[in-house]
Amino acid sequence: MTPPTALSLVATCALGLEELLAAELAALGIGTSETTPGGVRWQGSWTDLYRANWRLRTANRVLVELGRWSAPDGDALYAGARALVRGGAGVERSSALPPGTWFDPALPFALAATTSGSQVRDARWAVMRVKDGLVDAQRERFGRRADVDRRDPVLPLRLRLSGDEATLLLDSSGEPLDRRGYRVVSRGAPVREQLAAAAVLASGWDGSGPVVDPMCGTGTLLAEAAAVALGLPPGRLRESWAFTRFPGFEPRRFAAIRAEPLPCPGPDLTLHGNDREPEAIRAAAANLARAGLRERTQLSTGDAFAFTPPSGPGLVLVNPPYGERLAEEPTQWRRLGDLLKQRFRGWKAAVLAGDAGLGKHLGLRPRRRLPVRNGPLPMRILLLDLY
Ligand SMILES: C[S@@+](CC[C@H](N)C(=O)[O-])C[C@H]1O[C@@H](n2cnc3c(N)ncnc32)[C@H](O)[C@@H]1O
Repeated sequence: MTPPTALSLVATCALGLEELLAAELAALGIGTSETTPGGVRWQGSWTDLYRANWRLRTANRVLVELGRWSAPDGDALYAGARALVRGGAGVERSSALPPGTWFDPALPFALAATTSGSQVRDARWAVMRVKDGLVDAQRERFGRRADVDRRDPVLPLRLRLSGDEATLLLDSSGEPLDRRGYRVVSRGAPVREQLAAAAVLASGWDGSGPVVDPMCGTGTLLAEAAAVALGLPPGRLRESWAFTRFPGFEPRRFAAIRAEPLPCPGPDLTLHGNDREPEAIRAAAANLARAGLRERTQLSTGDAFAFTPPSGPGLVLVNPPYGERLAEEPTQWRRLGDLLKQRFRGWKAAVLAGDAGLGKHLGLRPRRRLPVRNGPLPMRILLLDLY
């Protein structure tokens, strides 16, 4: 088997965002990628890995695939893990890594597992078998073993068992990429940052005109729209990623990536947020200030259905409440449809709806419906051109 010459990389995402994520990767110059449910894979370099962590708006994490092997039972799991560290047959190495670097016993690791359709159903037992294989091989090869550190590992490893196949991956992000660093106050049910970014990226908005959210909650949709229009990298307020502690990390290469300018299609952007809850507006003010956007933002407290937008056209984003009986009345959705029709003619719109089919009461035909998951909750992003 020829040894790999590149890194085998996987950016993971919420189900439904794969196409947008592949388009984001293409915009980073990564043209050839393979889309799988919940992720996009490609063969790439350390530069790709740094850039993906710094710039991807719709990804959850960026993982490096270390190896895969056939593992129908616990003994095979153990043997494959051991072969990965010792070298030898029985395991396919997926990424070109300097030999010996990765399983250096000086590097504390953590291991988490997921299983689907595998005969090995107990993820905790799978973790034990793979951990034993890794550390036994470390003892044989280096004379000592690495510590397990679940709280602050240098190497956060992930085991995926799918059918009879085991894959060992290294998480290069650490904290998931939705931790952008601007959410200083949370309340209610904020939409996840990747979904908010997805709504903006899928909306067809060119970055011109104002952005309005008449039910803005903590301001996530406004913050993500502003980041797209102003070319602000999603990682700009983060302090750490797992890869910055990996052996061979090149700080100067990462600094050069951080200095790369991003397209900035809306330099004069203004943001307009409204919510009926004063507490939500206080949270939005704090978060948008942390994001460096407060000076271009107008916030108001009041009923969305009485909101008068600034002159447009621009982008209107709405994430109405869901899971509340009153909020899910079809009449509320009709009122929202009327608001969009009457006050936002000529604008682009994205409405983040639950999956109860209430979107049909808007009385507007979406250009596209994007089914996605917000954590465990199924949702739809309705994309509309308001004529
Ligand atoms: C699902 S939350 C929005 C979460 C927001 N996208 C975020 O990331 O924090 C819905 C918001 O709509 C607000 N809301 C509900 N009905 C409203 C109305 N008629 N007028 C103004 N705000 C309303 C609620 O107060 C709540 O903050």
